[in-house]
Amino acid sequence: MSGNHESIHGLWSSRWAFILAATGSAVGLGNIWKFPYITGENGGGAFVLVYLICIAGIGIPIMMAEVMMGRRGRSTPINTMSRLCVESGSSRVWKLIGWSGMLAGFLILSFYSVIAGWSLSYVLDSITGTFSGADAEFIGSHFGNLLASPGALLFWHTLFMVMTMIVVARGVEHGLEKAVRFLMPSLFVLLVIMVGYAMSMGEFARGVEFLFKPDFSKLTANGVLIAMGHAFFTLSLGMGAIMIYGAYLPAKTSIAKTSVLIAVADTTVALLAGLAIFPIVFSNGLEPGAGPGLIFQTLPIAFGQMPGGLFFGTLFFVLLSFAAWSSAISLIEPAVTWLVENRGMERFKACVIAGIATWLMGIGTILSFNIISEVKLFDKTFFDLLDYLTANIMLPLGGLAMAIFAAWLMPKIAVKDEFNMGEGIAYQTWYFLVRYVAPVTVIIVFLNAVGLI
Ligand code: TRP
Repeated sequence: MSGNHESIHGLWSSRWAFILAATGSAVGLGNIWKFPYITGENGGGAFVLVYLICIAGIGIPIMMAEVMMGRRGRSTPINTMSRLCVESGSSRVWKLIGWSGMLAGFLILSFYSVIAGWSLSYVLDSITGTFSGADAEFIGSHFGNLLASPGALLFWHTLFMVMTMIVVARGVEHGLEKAVRFLMPSLFVLLVIMVGYAMSMGEFARGVEFLFKPDFSKLTANGVLIAMGHAFFTLSLGMGAIMIYGAYLPAKTSIAKTSVLIAVADTTVALLAGLAIFPIVFSNGLEPGAGPGLIFQTLPIAFGQMPGGLFFGTLFFVLLSFAAWSSAISLIEPAVTWLVENRGMERFKACVIAGIATWLMGIGTILSFNIISEVKLFDKTFFDLLDYLTANIMLPLGGLAMAIFAAWLMPKIAVKDEFNMGEGIAYQTWYFLVRYVAPVTVIIVFLNAVGLI
């Protein structure tokens, strides 16, 4: 088999188109909403350190493996895996990577869309001046009211799902590219402005210390698992999203350079978000471990007080919604393309079916914030369970399987052919990390979290 299959869905117009789309997928709610709140819940610095180590030692190598496999197979994750199994003479069991990835994407999008809906609703709140001059207490109860209202949550979740499915129906390589090209840099600039504003607050130093001064006594085994799971989540790894984007990648592009670039951009955004948020948390006497509402209860305080806050606040939630949008697309793309390729469906019909299924599933998350908030399993609500199962279990397992497949089962010649970077130190480092370090670390972190070691 040659590595030069053409994807039936076209190719990216350039290397940059791929970088933008993959960055669009990576940078999203994970960076701005999830990273700060799980950092707050898990005690700060030590957690951040583990997260950074996981990005560098596991995330980047697995991202390279995932892109490489995608480009080799040039298809949806399931079909890519089946081609790669044939090429390497491996058992078709490995197709499970594609199946479980498709399921993970669907499950993640079902709650991701609800949270993105919060962001959309905050666009309206910001623009109508709800936060002008408001204090922490008002903003906290405003957020509480949103969560308590299934109708409002449903409305915004529906809007977000419709927006997502419209783009997916048109095909990811059209349109999205242009939007991401200027929205991502804008989001970046705005975060820098927010950090600048946070610097003017009394508690900036405390925020920095919280984020970067490790206190290992606050880190639990479960916290380590969450940090590792988040490295997968934030880089969109382990479910085939990056694999399918890799399928559209032109043959000559350097996988190593692009992967590092994407990971650095993604991590920078998360750290900036942390630097903007924690000073507000401490200056207003709020609780860093406030949970999923953290950014929605803190940033509006700053927008309510800062000069031009109405403008910046509105812009911020618009850009956050966009970032969520370009991520959401990649979560459902594998399922839609699979329906098109394997079930012979029209793309539009595939989108309607996948969209409705995800939308319905999202209702569970909506209700878990109000009507069924007391229904718990392992002390977790429906939303918490979904998040935990996908980010901390399914994605690392998917990544583990990809690492093993790429480094132990694929013919070396095929791997080298795709990477096209010779056998120098970069390749050797990748090979070592993906073959030994990543699998062993993932397994140890799992065993540690369940108390077996
Ligand atoms: N990485 C995105 C974020 O941080 C979420 C996301 C998009 C994702 N596609 C994914 C997570 C695929 C896991 C797998 O917001």
